[in-house]
Amino acid sequence: MYKCAMILAAGKGKRMKSNMPKVLHKVCGKAMINHVIDTMRKAHIEDVSLVIGTGAEEVKKATEMKNVLYALQEEQLGTGHAVICAKDFLNDKDGVVAIFTGDAPLIKADTVEKLIQYHLDNKFKATILTSVLEDAAEYGRIIRNKNGEVEKIVEFKDCDEKEVNVKEINSGMYCFDIRSLLDSLEKLNNNNAQGEYYLTDVISILKKEGQTVGAIDTDFEETLGVNSRVQLSEVEEIMKARINRYHMENGVTIIDPKNTYIGDEVEIAKDTIIYPGNVLEGKTVIGEGCTLYPNSRIKDSIIESSVNIQSSVILESKIGENTTVGPFAYIRPETTIGKKARIGDFVEIKKSTIGDGTKVSHLTYIGDAEVGSGCNFGCGTVVVNYDGQKKYKTIIGNNSFIGCNTNLVSPVEVKDNTYIAAGSTITKEVPEGALAIARAKQVNKEGWVDKKGLRK
Ligand code: UD1
Ligand code: CA
Repeated sequence: MYKCAMILAAGKGKRMKSNMPKVLHKVCGKAMINHVIDTMRKAHIEDVSLVIGTGAEEVKKATEMKNVLYALQEEQLGTGHAVICAKDFLNDKDGVVAIFTGDAPLIKADTVEKLIQYHLDNKFKATILTSVLEDAAEYGRIIRNKNGEVEKIVEFKDCDEKEVNVKEINSGMYCFDIRSLLDSLEKLNNNNAQGEYYLTDVISILKKEGQTVGAIDTDFEETLGVNSRVQLSEVEEIMKARINRYHMENGVTIIDPKNTYIGDEVEIAKDTIIYPGNVLEGKTVIGEGCTLYPNSRIKDSIIESSVNIQSSVILESKIGENTTVGPFAYIRPETTIGKKARIGDFVEIKKSTIGDGTKVSHLTYIGDAEVGSGCNFGCGTVVVNYDGQKKYKTIIGNNSFIGCNTNLVSPVEVKDNTYIAAGSTITKEVPEGALAIARAKQVNKEGWVDKKGLRK
């Protein structure tokens, strides 16, 4: 049976008090709308259409890698109207459409699959995902007849005294038989408390035509929607706990899960230990047996096994196995560090490769450089890669010893097995096996202090 999904995301999200469309607010580092799209794909639904309106261009841009279709709802006249605006997506299709909302990112792929399976098994024309709540708040109520069959959904604002006491609520997530939905949309009106075209009215329309509709209940937590920043933080908390639990179940030690922030696309191998305050973002991959001491941010990076990192920032880079980084290192994009290397405190590395076993222990800047293996950088080395206009490259061979407080003025090459004397400013190639000294010779003026009358 053909399946597709539609995600409603045109609403304003007024209560967010934001310049950004609501569905672009991030949960665990990823826009809510992208969580929902990814969940549909995990549930094996390929064709996905987004109904967009508020901030349409921004939403398109944020989802451009997701291979979805768009329908524009210029004026938000209700959830039913939103689906009418996306009719072109459905017109030539026959099968099932799952309709979800872009502001409820906690929904799980197996719940989506269960909903569709239940819908198909029972040959319903519409199936609603519901929850039973002690306090049904302002959710739409599921009204059943004497036989317990779903009769209609009544919006909170349209409830009579009896209906308002119903505890079974509409999550706002459904699946429909596409042809039946299209027919029912023709019959929607806006004669209700809010003057909107309600998608929920499709249920009573189908029912009146003698079609069968159903409901399946799920964990309320999964259907939580975000309408405010407070709810955003509540959803974040739940997703964070879910992600952390997943990694712990896979053999990762997380010492304080409440203070550990892992994006949902991050991979971590077993026996890695994560201390509090770590933020792992994007498509980061962490190998086996690493120790992430407190307070690092690692984004879109590959960390091989047995690496130790402490209080550092690593962006779009790769760190080889058994290497240590930090405290207070800054590894900027397009850097590759080899195995058994040591990158110490207050070291910044940008767009460079550093070979195996090389030590850059303290107070050093390396930019646009290729550094071989087995090198040692003294404290305070600076690669002078920028002349104010252009960036240039420095190349350093294997087993070179760079003395403290050296400047390497790019472009320059330092060959294998060389030594550079401390305090040198290197502007010319250093040949293989040489010692380079590039600093003023020391001059001692004997008796100078007394001559000047400066002795204290
Ligand atoms: C809707 C349901 C309600 C359910 C609740 C669950 C209707 C009429 N009511 O109510 O039964 O309990 O969700 O959260 O559907 N949207 C558009 N265009 C519009 C209006 C809404 O794209 O014109 C989108 C919003 O961006 C949002 C979603 O649809 O993502 C839900 O809209 P919202 O206004 O929040 O519906 P509720 O009143 O909460
Ligand atoms: Ca809502």
